[in-house]
Amino acid sequence: MKRIGVVGAGAMGSGIAQVGAQAGLEVLLYDVADKPLEAGVARIRAGLDRLVERGKLSAEERAAIDGRISTTKTLGDFLDVEFIVEAAPEVMALKKEIFQKLDHICSRTAILATNTSSLSVTEIAELTDRPDRVCGMHFFNPVPLMKLVEVVRGAQTSGETARRTTELASRLGKTAVQVKDTPGFVVNRVARPFPGEALRLLGDGVASPRQIDRAAKLGAGFRMGPFELMDLVGMDINFAVNRSVFEQFFYEPRFRPHPLQAQMVKANRLGRKTGAGWYRYDGDRLLDAPDGAVFYGNPGPLPTGTLHIVGDPTLLALAREAGLPLTDDPAAADLVLVEASRLTTTEAAASLPDPARVVGFGGIPGVVLRQLVEVAPGLQTAPEATEHAVAVFHALGRDTEVIQDGPGLIVPRLIACLANEAAFALMEGVASASDIDTAMRLGVNYPRGPLEWADELGPANVLGILDHLQRFTGEDRYRPCPLLRKLVLAGSPFTGGAAR
Ligand SMILES: NC(=O)c1ccc[n+]([C@@H]2O[C@H](COP(=O)([O-])OP(=O)(O)OC[C@H]3O[C@@H](n4cnc5c(N)ncnc54)[C@H](O)[C@@H]3O)[C@@H](O)[C@H]2O)c1
Repeated sequence: MKRIGVVGAGAMGSGIAQVGAQAGLEVLLYDVADKPLEAGVARIRAGLDRLVERGKLSAEERAAIDGRISTTKTLGDFLDVEFIVEAAPEVMALKKEIFQKLDHICSRTAILATNTSSLSVTEIAELTDRPDRVCGMHFFNPVPLMKLVEVVRGAQTSGETARRTTELASRLGKTAVQVKDTPGFVVNRVARPFPGEALRLLGDGVASPRQIDRAAKLGAGFRMGPFELMDLVGMDINFAVNRSVFEQFFYEPRFRPHPLQAQMVKANRLGRKTGAGWYRYDGDRLLDAPDGAVFYGNPGPLPTGTLHIVGDPTLLALAREAGLPLTDDPAAADLVLVEASRLTTTEAAASLPDPARVVGFGGIPGVVLRQLVEVAPGLQTAPEATEHAVAVFHALGRDTEVIQDGPGLIVPRLIACLANEAAFALMEGVASASDIDTAMRLGVNYPRGPLEWADELGPANVLGILDHLQRFTGEDRYRPCPLLRKLVLAGSPFTGGAAR
């Protein structure tokens, strides 16, 4: 392949044209008018200039790349182009019109790909005489930086078309994952619980946006908290994608938007672009960023009161090593710390000698070893017990967030819901386990793929958190994926095991 066509010179189209020309391909870039074409070319040149400034491109290479891009306002010029990527606005009627025209103009062998994020590839293909040669090629923004492409097979897309699209993605320096044409594909579907559960935690009064963001970053290693991310993406876009996935799944409760999203959009609190969302901004600068770690690696003094630990051998080992005064008898302890991702503190306290001295914490395996621990007093917990619990974690060099006693706490709930959605996508054959994990690591920068995360925490623990959430809230959105339940029964992991 020597030449590609790109339809639409906006944010995505100009990025695709840039990476195409950088990969040595001739690129023909189309838009409806001079202004968007000029803006697109200016964006590409600014991108190339930055690469020259950073020493990643020489001036000669830059000139050669620029020279490989030509522009047109006439779709007829795509007559002899063998691969075309469409990146026009996300409107079905518009995409159908473009594909019908390209179908008449282009040779019978040409492949027509769409960069749609949310529309049905099958529906776009259906109006052409070559549905087998229509495919989704879903890039991520900004295209030159983001490594992922979802190659989306419509109901009639041929294996050969998917193969050639994958080949082009690799040529452009991207990692391609194979995805079935289903609402949201992999990334925009599996990522839904991240903002979705964060909004529910806030709406249910469990924690504030700042606390949830700190827990996600310091407690689980996400690069951005869900509220920071909503502000970056824009509340209007987040709400629109959420609604679209919800409607396309015929109102599946897992995807139901939260009233807070509608409220924020009505208030024009869209995030960075309006200067205020969940946080306030001065241009691109976040004015009230969530704090980083204070105690991590910098342990506070050892509290003297006696301690009994329930349900977390990792914490017990850490406490012993640090020299905290431990007791085996909960009745004799000043503080009873209970691992509370699979039952609320209030429930756990009911079966212990003195509920006033019981405090829950989030400690599913591995999570307690991170920088921040969630501390959740129950309804009957005394304030001194909560202070004591916070002092214990600070003495172990961990930061804390004191939150309300809610099912699954913050991090266990976020990870379990992400893993559950990934499990549904796997069960439904949307993509393989490894492609789902790759898509989430590269498409949204997750620290781990949700399925490998589930394996690390233990599928049985993930199932336990979801069962608890469903039982405690009575909500169907938490029903565990049948595949997850089967794997737990079989004692098998998601990756490398029977699920593959
Ligand atoms: N922005 C993102 O983060 C992102 C990520 C992945 C996929 N996408 C998808 O990529 C596509 C483009 O998104 P974008 O963000 O680049 O939009 P954009 O608004 O930046 O660009 C769209 C371009 O299409 C042009 N256009 C308008 N009518 C046209 C027509 N009839 N034929 C050809 N071009 C036309 C516009 O002039 C504009 O230059 C959409 O389908 C979107 O869902 C966007």
